[in-house]
Amino acid sequence: MKKFSLLMIALLMFVFVVGCSSGGAEPAAPAADAAAKNMEDLVVGYAQIGAESEWRTANTASIQETAKTLNVDLRFSDAQQKQENQIAAIRSYIAEGVDVIGFSPVVETGWETVLQEAKDAGIPVIMVDRRADVPRELYATYLGSDFVEEGRKAGNEMNTLLSDGGKIVELVGTVGSAPANDRYSGFRETVNSNIEIIDSQSGDFTRAKGKEVMEAFLKKYGNEITGLYAHNDDMAIGAIQAIEEFGLKPGVDIKIVSIDAVRGAFEAMIAGKLNVTVECNPLLGPQFYELALRAVNGESLPEWVPSEESVYYPDNAAELLPQRQY
Ligand code: AHR
Repeated sequence: MKKFSLLMIALLMFVFVVGCSSGGAEPAAPAADAAAKNMEDLVVGYAQIGAESEWRTANTASIQETAKTLNVDLRFSDAQQKQENQIAAIRSYIAEGVDVIGFSPVVETGWETVLQEAKDAGIPVIMVDRRADVPRELYATYLGSDFVEEGRKAGNEMNTLLSDGGKIVELVGTVGSAPANDRYSGFRETVNSNIEIIDSQSGDFTRAKGKEVMEAFLKKYGNEITGLYAHNDDMAIGAIQAIEEFGLKPGVDIKIVSIDAVRGAFEAMIAGKLNVTVECNPLLGPQFYELALRAVNGESLPEWVPSEESVYYPDNAAELLPQRQY
């Protein structure tokens, strides 16, 4: 009997030690008595960046409309491109005790504290569209594009358009954001050395700022500019206006490569004013909720779930435009 009691004590101690030492990057498994959740049980907090581009509008619609279709209780906020607003929104979702938080970090740095707070509260966080530079254990997964690859593709397209070399300007996205950093470096990995990047400034991913910065480029360099690389279509569309007002032909005098593949870019290609758009897919709603449910039910998720993307040209833009969802 004494032997049996000692065995039981040893077994209990083993269970206690193993239980206390688990953690790290592994998500907490739901307690044995907690039933797995269904989609319609989910309460989701989503901290969106803002409404800076056509792309973002489509991304927001995908998150909101999919929630309605799936009967998910979605708490949504728009941070108006400000990191402090996103942090405040995440804190309010933690206080409300949502099941899972989704967010698209406006910039890459400065998220550790708030993500640690979510982890301490036992709420899994999914990064959507943009990635933050944080340790792996602070998020369940990242769902989004390969922005470096998009930049590489844009560089290759510029090489084809300016095969004899040229002088180009660059409209960079929001300073410190993952797509701006990665599209900047990816482009430089592939663009030929006979293509000189004579200037590079941020247009903050907006049409108005893209136009304003392009006007300044044209004032400074005029006819010297033979190409434009814009980190998104909205800035390219703003720049197209500036080029026309300056008296040059966008797409002809100045070759233009941009990123996103929104409907506005297809219209510009049909009009012969844009040469190439590299796709960045904003329709992430369905995949987001599927991952959210898996995270809430304690499943380990891959570090990154990449979205599939293509490249589009003027030749078949008119044929493809009616099928474009954004
Ligand atoms: O993070 C994705 C980028 O953000 C899109 O390319 C841009 O249009 C948006 O604002």
